[in-house]
Amino acid sequence: MDATLLLIILTSLFTPLLLHLLLRHHRRSTLPLPPGPRGYPILGALPLIGPAAHVSLANLAKRYGPIMYLKLGTRSVVVVSTSSAARSFLTTFDHQFANRPTATMKTKEAAYNGEDMVFSNYTPRWKLLRRLSTIHMLGNKAFTKWANVRRSEVMHMLHAMHESSKLGKPVLVPEMLICATTNIIGRVMLSQRVFDSVDEELGKFRDVLKELLTGGGIFNIGDFVPGIGWMDLQGVKAKLVKAHRKMDDMMKKMLALHKATMKEREGCPDFIDLVLASELRDDDGEKLSDVNIRALLSNMFSAGTDTSTIIVEWALAELIKNPAILKRLQSEMDAIIGQERILQEDDISKLPYLQAVCKEALRLHASTPLSIPHYSFESCEVEGYHIPADTRLLINIWAIGRDPDIWENPLEFIPERFLPGGNAVNIEPHGTDFEMIPFGAGRRICVGKQAGMVFVQYLLGVLVHGFNWQMPKGEEIDLKETPGLVIPKEVPIKAFVTPRLASKVYF
Ligand code: HEM
Repeated sequence: MDATLLLIILTSLFTPLLLHLLLRHHRRSTLPLPPGPRGYPILGALPLIGPAAHVSLANLAKRYGPIMYLKLGTRSVVVVSTSSAARSFLTTFDHQFANRPTATMKTKEAAYNGEDMVFSNYTPRWKLLRRLSTIHMLGNKAFTKWANVRRSEVMHMLHAMHESSKLGKPVLVPEMLICATTNIIGRVMLSQRVFDSVDEELGKFRDVLKELLTGGGIFNIGDFVPGIGWMDLQGVKAKLVKAHRKMDDMMKKMLALHKATMKEREGCPDFIDLVLASELRDDDGEKLSDVNIRALLSNMFSAGTDTSTIIVEWALAELIKNPAILKRLQSEMDAIIGQERILQEDDISKLPYLQAVCKEALRLHASTPLSIPHYSFESCEVEGYHIPADTRLLINIWAIGRDPDIWENPLEFIPERFLPGGNAVNIEPHGTDFEMIPFGAGRRICVGKQAGMVFVQYLLGVLVHGFNWQMPKGEEIDLKETPGLVIPKEVPIKAFVTPRLASKVYF
């Protein structure tokens, strides 16, 4: 082929592609960008974001408005801070923003390079991961099937707390809760109890989880100013990748044990057995890879344990601080359940005050204060603003739940607002009422939201119905947050419990 012909063929092949790329980036809308701080050269608005990014961004939004545009380093970011703005992005433009910015992250190895569910783009593989998780673990039918596992782990927890009470030892609440939820997820997914009790192994697992969830919430300069990413100035990448490798090793060990014990599960398959046996393929005809499966396990352990237990701990902290609310809740449970047995999941629908307390905790202390970042490859026009291509979208879930234009006395813990006569009686946290969206909304809504709701209501109910609570002498509950991807209490609750039900209940 002569060179001129080759040139003509190449030009005709690549010109449309080049034009598309150029236009995608440079087609300027006549509409303005959303308002936002100008920021500094190179770093953009990064220096304006403190360790608690949700708080810094909420403060900036007071000045610049509900849809705010920032340059963080070289990256475009839109931050949404009210329910109506969140509705626009997560309904009309939900499809467009259903991706994640993982490919641009220097720390992407710690997110399985997007081969998992949480950090994957909106791909056929992501759809398959969600479908399998819903069918075999988290959807209504599958979730009901695992009720016996939840009951048995809650009984382990109850028994351990009763023992602490007999020995006069205080209970470290987050450890108890993490032990229970991790074991529930371990048994459902792999037929494995991960921890026998609150011991050294649990401590190590918690440390890894903490590093992943705290590190994941830091605005890593290397992600926003790619030229200096290799320096890892804050040490975020090194810490995250180290924690990820430890977590991945644990997943490998669990899967090896799972394989070795396959025969023992004949006739009663767990989640991983069902996923491996599934004939479902993604739209490209592919099955899940080994990496996808390890990544899915890791996602469920990290996204499914701390998120729920943090809410339970916050709710309990508010109850200890507000004894009148605690008393009203215990009275409701005594009236419906009595004192001769412990709460069962079936009781929850008959306990409106328990439900109201949990919703109020989800509103005021959303465990994931900023949604995991969404990402759009294309430009669009939202609410009269031009949103450029390659923009990250952050939904400030924390700020939406505390918006004074929606919530009366937003910083006070008032479960009554969710009861008949209260002005939030019709607001549910499931992703359709944008006044509070603790699980997010739209296509990327939390895949475990039903599980999360049950974990929160069941665990809190059992702790409150089963025990009276007392802080150590001279200590008071404080309500400070630890910043990160999730926001646990800075000082974990360590309190004395005394049983309040018939003693046979605890064994
Ligand atoms: C009260 C408890 C929980 C809360 C508050 C919560 C909150 C959230 C939020 C805010 C997101 C991000 C939504 C977005 O990107 O816009 C999310 C995603 C996710 N959650 Fe939850 N979650 C909870 C419990 C759970 C449980 C129990 C599981 C699993 C066992 C789980 C698994 C996941 C996964 C896998 C994702 C990623 C979904 C995706 O990107 O497609 N979560 N969750």
